[in-house]
Amino acid sequence: MNSLKAAEEIKASFSISRMDLRKIRVRFQDQIHSTLMGKPASLKSLPSFLSPATGQERGEFLAVDFGGSNLRVSLVSLLGEGRHMIRKEISRPLKDPALTYDYTTAATSGPELFNFAASLVYEVYAALPVQSLGLTFSYPMEQKNVNNAYLLRWTKEMKPRDTIGKSIYEMFTAALARQGLEKLMLKAIINDTVACFLAASYQCPHVVAGSICGTGHNTCYRERSLRTSDNLPMIVNLEAGNFSDVPVNYYDQQLDSHSDDPGQQQLEKMVSGKYLGELMRLVLLDLINRGIISAPADDCLTRPYALGSEILGWLQSGQPGLNIVPGHNSGQLLPWLSQLDYSLLRTISTAIVSRASQLMASTFLAIMDQVRYLLNPTIAVDGSVFLYMPGMISAIESFIRSESAADHPQLFMTANGSSIGAAVAAASVRNEIF
Ligand code: BGC
Repeated sequence: MNSLKAAEEIKASFSISRMDLRKIRVRFQDQIHSTLMGKPASLKSLPSFLSPATGQERGEFLAVDFGGSNLRVSLVSLLGEGRHMIRKEISRPLKDPALTYDYTTAATSGPELFNFAASLVYEVYAALPVQSLGLTFSYPMEQKNVNNAYLLRWTKEMKPRDTIGKSIYEMFTAALARQGLEKLMLKAIINDTVACFLAASYQCPHVVAGSICGTGHNTCYRERSLRTSDNLPMIVNLEAGNFSDVPVNYYDQQLDSHSDDPGQQQLEKMVSGKYLGELMRLVLLDLINRGIISAPADDCLTRPYALGSEILGWLQSGQPGLNIVPGHNSGQLLPWLSQLDYSLLRTISTAIVSRASQLMASTFLAIMDQVRYLLNPTIAVDGSVFLYMPGMISAIESFIRSESAADHPQLFMTANGSSIGAAVAAASVRNEIF
């Protein structure tokens, strides 16, 4: 088979017809209905016990962002009227690139993982002591209350042991106590989509949903049939990354079967930063095995997840050597390829990114169908794929425009949402619940 034909064939396997995308939109909304009625579905409707922010939240808070790749602790001042200031911030990767430590594997226990988080809190607290804390925790969890939640499972290839089913409140406050920080009040534990929603609604009253596409993917939205204790609409976490009613191709199947959680997080595995580079690596290996493009001299492609998602942005930019994502120079990758190989891979990477944008846009449209009664709907978005993948946001916007007659939702970029949102959540919790 010649290389052009191979590229066309692979490109076609990453394309989903308009009709199928419309079916995905309908099925996504059907699943929202099912899960709200307590029926089994690949989506969930996990209540956050929080309603949209008012913009008037004020005070000083420690904010912990327990993300998919990094742990970040900030001291956030909320000044009201949608304004904030980050007064101090430290961040560490969960896995040291120099490999001196790695908290992502099963060799790490729950206490070790939370001790790491608590030691970072200690560093910020020692410089600026503030008593209230909000935690953004970017994994599926079942909330029992605004400040207590139980870990349902890990995603994004994380696997610290003896943690599933345990109280995140208890694990974290025990680690804080081991640091001598027992007086800190952990006021809120929220998902990162909820943090993104809160950070955006702190500044803009029209937010109806919050979505993350970074290492992982997920969306939350405002559901009027579920109410907080103040009888306000509840922000509900859908765990949208687990949506499974999507057509998968050969590369998706390969990726899934080699992942830590086969059969889970299907949508996430097609759209998020943890997996887009891996899809590209699987395509590359296939093309090499079929003799269509040349093989590297070393084994740089054999390790799973050897390619980061920035490779797709870099391929699409058409300018090898360009630094697309700050701190990542993918210009050194794939040096053995010819210009012809590059243009073939560029076509395929465009198809992978375009599929991701259309899938996410279809789920946004389903959410718009669910909150149809709200005016000027705005979807808050955050995460490295939304922020840095060239063309991603404009592709989502143009798909949404092409599919909805009027009142298109606006996308609102919310950089730093996890920290600001954790502070807003902590501020909006009344003290008397403790
Ligand atoms: C997690 C979600 C999270 C998303 C974005 C997914 O893997 O299951 O809870 O919101 O990643 O970080």
